[in-house]
Amino acid sequence: MAKRYVDGIGTLILERINIIDVVGSYIALKKAGKNHKALCPFHSEKTPSFVVSEDKQIYHCFGCGASGNAIGFVMAMDHLDFIDAIEVISDRYGINLDEYQVQHSDPKAQEEKDRILAINKTVANAFYRAFKESPQAVAYMAKRGITADTLRRYGVGYAWDEWDYLLKNLKSKYPPELLEKAGLIIKRDNSQGHYDRFRNRIIFPILDVRGRVIGFGGRVLDDGVPKYLNSPDTPVFNKSFNLYGLNFAKNHLDEARRILLVEGYMDVIALSNQGIHHGVASLGTSLTEGHGRLLERYAREVVLVYDGDEAGIKATSRAIEILGKFNLKLKVLNLPGGMDPDDYLKKNSPQAFLTLTEEARDAVEYLLDHHGEDLNFRVKSELLEYIDRIRPVFQMIADPLAYELYIKKVAADTDFDRVSLEKALKPSGALVKGTPKAKGTGPRDTQPAQMKLYQRVVEIAVHERNHLDYIKDQFDPAEVDHEAFREVMGYLVGHEAVDLHEAIDVLSYEAVAMLEEAVNKEDYIPVSKGLREVQKSYLQMQLGDLKNKYLKIKEEKDDVLLNIDRGSPEFKQLEIEYEGRLQAINSKMMTINKKFR
Ligand code: CTP
Ligand code: MN
Repeated sequence: MAKRYVDGIGTLILERINIIDVVGSYIALKKAGKNHKALCPFHSEKTPSFVVSEDKQIYHCFGCGASGNAIGFVMAMDHLDFIDAIEVISDRYGINLDEYQVQHSDPKAQEEKDRILAINKTVANAFYRAFKESPQAVAYMAKRGITADTLRRYGVGYAWDEWDYLLKNLKSKYPPELLEKAGLIIKRDNSQGHYDRFRNRIIFPILDVRGRVIGFGGRVLDDGVPKYLNSPDTPVFNKSFNLYGLNFAKNHLDEARRILLVEGYMDVIALSNQGIHHGVASLGTSLTEGHGRLLERYAREVVLVYDGDEAGIKATSRAIEILGKFNLKLKVLNLPGGMDPDDYLKKNSPQAFLTLTEEARDAVEYLLDHHGEDLNFRVKSELLEYIDRIRPVFQMIADPLAYELYIKKVAADTDFDRVSLEKALKPSGALVKGTPKAKGTGPRDTQPAQMKLYQRVVEIAVHERNHLDYIKDQFDPAEVDHEAFREVMGYLVGHEAVDLHEAIDVLSYEAVAMLEEAVNKEDYIPVSKGLREVQKSYLQMQLGDLKNKYLKIKEEKDDVLLNIDRGSPEFKQLEIEYEGRLQAINSKMMTINKKFR
């Protein structure tokens, strides 16, 4: 279990760090005017569009739209979740997170976990060294065609062919109880003492996404049984929440953010051995929602590449059922001849494999076909059986368009007419799954109404330069209560055309953001009523500005006067002063209102 921190931990950490340092520790930042800029680390570009604003403590790429604060940056760069990113940052800045920790119900438990992680690391290193010293282990992996590079990448090790190697060598450092809790040694049933869990096995250390060794898998070197042996669940290891290889795969995803989910350690390794680094494996257990959550965090698409045997096919259906609940594009790849990825790559090129993953069948289509494979649709009872089988599949489909598509497919496959089919496929209970909310792409913060008015004026000025003259004439910097807008106007007046890269060097972050939004506005609505419309937009903006000013002063007035004795001369004087200011604004608003007519 992760440590728990106080609410608002993010803000508290952000207050103690500077985004310039954080981002600057990953990429070279160049000071440019009020901002810092760099080539964007999230997309490829030749001219810097990536801006870090020290004022606002945020980063934003005007090229690809990536943006966020320092924590978000570390999350994106290191593919970490929020808490992990906070821990990484705190580590780096020497911030003691204990201060922010919600009193752990059991601080001892946390300490124990830390010790187990330390043991695991020590032992993983020892296994790794032992591998190189074991001719059988080296020969075995060589026979399977795995290169030294790949072995190093996955830290493949070897467990000695002894009953008490770990105990003998670690006893002085760690008590047996702890080694037992770490799952490394096992208590003898009917006599005193312990023995090593992993003996004479190839060892695959299991790392979590933060790169900590949380457990081990061990394979025999021959046909012994069990073929694989895994760490049991320990205080730091739970098979249902971890995927083998994800710590590596997460850093090797391309734009499609496609992850290949395979069955075993050796599949992940064999893939990586051929340069295919985006494979992960569930750890000899069936898939859980925990795995789904984990995958959702990193992947947009998951291709299930399970073995083609009966167990694999069952596991595939089950995996789709579990992963169907998550915001993931699900595909299924059945390798020919029931091969697993490891087998396939022995006979085919990595390119051939990659092509198969790119062309993998949609999971729904896979299930629809799969469920019909053993049925004869000409037999009524079997056809009805089919409908029963695919009903849950249809409940999985959230996208109405996809629903439509698959209804059509089934209608064609079965000769059912669409209407009765749709009726038959309705859930048997009343349970109708709502359209799941789209995740990850939440709407941008709604801008206050006034911001929209400023923005409209900027848009007109950017998209229809011929109207700029009018705006320019009206524009009085002293009148407009918005710093960034003033900057933008100044820029537009002084430049023939907008060059965002150049603007980054001279304008504040906010001003560049306004410009960028205007430049990239895809649904810009051109001025259709000529100058009159431009006037109106400008006046509206001015009016809104004045209204805000008015309200601000009014608020201040109430605030100030509330604390002064009503009968005092001071009160009277201040009241008159405020009234005067309010009146002035009022009359300006009236003048503008008249212009509207
Ligand atoms: N597994 C396990 N215990 C077993 C057999 C398998 O935990 N007795 C898990 C392991 O995680 C293994 C995965 O299931 O990696 C897939 O098993 P299998 O297909 O039998 O192994 P392969 O990955 O094909 O391994 P190899 O190629 O080395 O035979
Ligand atoms: Mn295999």
